[in-house]
Amino acid sequence: MKTRPLMFFGTTNLDLCFNVERLPTPGETLMGILARNPGGKGANQAVAAARLGLRPHFYTRLGDDEAGRRLLQSLAEAGVRTDAVEICQGEPSGTAMVMVGDDGANMIVIDPGANLNATALTVEKATGFIEPDAIVVAEMGIPVPALERLFELKADKGFEVIFNPAPVRPGLSAAAWRSIDYLTPNQSETFELTGVEVRDFGSAARAASKLLELGTKAVLITLGACGAYYCDESRSFGLPAFPVKVVDTTGAGDAFNGAFAAFLSQGVAVRDAIRKAMAVAALCVSRRGAQDSMPTARTVDEFLNQQTVLELE
Ligand code: RIB
Repeated sequence: MKTRPLMFFGTTNLDLCFNVERLPTPGETLMGILARNPGGKGANQAVAAARLGLRPHFYTRLGDDEAGRRLLQSLAEAGVRTDAVEICQGEPSGTAMVMVGDDGANMIVIDPGANLNATALTVEKATGFIEPDAIVVAEMGIPVPALERLFELKADKGFEVIFNPAPVRPGLSAAAWRSIDYLTPNQSETFELTGVEVRDFGSAARAASKLLELGTKAVLITLGACGAYYCDESRSFGLPAFPVKVVDTTGAGDAFNGAFAAFLSQGVAVRDAIRKAMAVAALCVSRRGAQDSMPTARTVDEFLNQQTVLELE
């Protein structure tokens, strides 16, 4: 089967990562070790797909600064096609301050910089890179009017949409929700969108039916260590996560989204694409960093083979 083209629309940041023993409480000062890593949700997702052997296009906005040059280079080195990337004179590249505790949990604050100035017009221009029968992945770091224009062009261009509503922002139109093929929130995003606290597959099912009422064709809720829950008009199922030692959860959701898109584009059936994307997320959390921790297709296959052996024992 022919691999379908992939294009990601999203943010790119320079992540200033402080590795600390535990996350600080308000008013507290802690010592940590600083690492500067390429990040940003859209960039992480595109890199996750590229590591699996795809050659996705990526639309993002970078400043014309040192961080921007470094971020562009690391995207290209990972195998992401950067022709659609905008280099923006006089705007700073996005920066994220990421704190990661020894238990792998994180806290993130973002200064979006150039990411924030994507418009309906700039995004429309970038859609020129969407190839026929493509899968398009977008996240919510892109301003709402720009996202709405992207989704509006779906009918014209005939692509499928995976939308990761991270971080959740208000104001997306009813028509935009209806144009989503796969909506992929995590637990906290699901809570923000539905008011339902997702702790298990039962509560995920309740939240998913509320999300389906928005008109999206399928909902795929990620539940961290509890796995993932899928629901569309005709079927629903939950899949357990792979048990791994968690080192750093930064980029886990991005690993999942990028990989899910990559496997779908390779013609893998939805259920199996979710299972394989969970393997990618599991490998991502077992290493430090976001883009730096995205595994190759070979590592994912070895991991899955190992899981099958463990299941048979
Ligand atoms: O999802 C992880 C990402 O969120 C980090 O790389 C950081 O840049 C923030 O956008």
